[in-house]
Amino acid sequence: MNPKLAEQIKEKYQALNQDPQIHFEGLLHSKPINYWDYIQVDALLNLQVQRTVFPDEKVFILYHQISELLFNMILSEIDQVAKTRNITTKLFTDKIMRISRYFDVLTSSFSIMKDGMDVEQYNKFRNTLTPASGFQSAQYRKIEFASTELINLIDNRFRETINRNSSYEHAFEHLYWQAAGKDYSTGKKSYTLSAFEDKYKDEFIRFTKFYQNNNLWSKFKGLPKSDQNNQELINAMRHYDYTVNIKWVIAHYNTANHYLNISGKTAEATGGSEWVKYMHPKYQKRIFFPDLWTNEEIQTWGTNV
Ligand code: HEM
Repeated sequence: MNPKLAEQIKEKYQALNQDPQIHFEGLLHSKPINYWDYIQVDALLNLQVQRTVFPDEKVFILYHQISELLFNMILSEIDQVAKTRNITTKLFTDKIMRISRYFDVLTSSFSIMKDGMDVEQYNKFRNTLTPASGFQSAQYRKIEFASTELINLIDNRFRETINRNSSYEHAFEHLYWQAAGKDYSTGKKSYTLSAFEDKYKDEFIRFTKFYQNNNLWSKFKGLPKSDQNNQELINAMRHYDYTVNIKWVIAHYNTANHYLNISGKTAEATGGSEWVKYMHPKYQKRIFFPDLWTNEEIQTWGTNV
């Protein structure tokens, strides 16, 4: 054994006020680790708890879980960008490409949802999920908060009335996704939306406070001007924006259409939104990095897909 390594291990435990001898002995008796323990395979395969007898419900649960795992990988990369001071364009570009790759996987694999379940089975088992909806994915919202400034997530119709001086509460009430569950004329919210807010609103406020100035868009704008002109970085940012806000959104919309639009008759979604209008990218016009797109690209956002 490399004596330097043994010395370093000794120093590590001494610094913790621990007897290195005991830790070496512990190492001597410890069991070798196996793949199934390390990856927690048994725990993982115990998480698909169906509510019905339909086999395709398992596809639905598993693919949502896969999505949440990838969301987690994305958040972990964004967190590293947010916490790196004086980030280089090289590192920034590499991280955006990693994040994009995860979202590319989500987009290209969405056919598992659209073509991978029997329509009849889906329309039976989904009744047992109501009023739950993917709309209540907190990680998806966090990816948005961590990617751009709050103003870019405000419902298009109210964007002009909100600025940096608006209270967080006011901004929150006008986030684009409120439209999925709120009647703006009465202020009344659906159960799906209020339950989601009860569980996550405080956490979102804490999260957003940090990301207000550390989101990907603010980080980009904080780079030296010459770095902001780096074409590779700009391309990576545009790719990410397009993948999340057009490609994934349209794959999701087409899936909803496949299951919930039967011979031109649209069924009510489990979360109760007016989904035909709500989910289309051309209405939501969600854009993380608006200055990286031309006026024409913004005007035609989501219309050519
Ligand atoms: C058969 C598959 C799916 C259908 C039919 C579907 C349908 C819908 C509908 C209709 C909505 C609007 C809210 C509502 O009224 O419920 C929605 C929202 C949402 N779903 Fe799905 N979904 C599917 C799969 C997924 C998957 C796999 C994910 C991944 C986590 C997901 C994540 C989301 C998210 C994040 C929202 C909110 C989007 C937004 O606010 O723009 N969905 N979904």
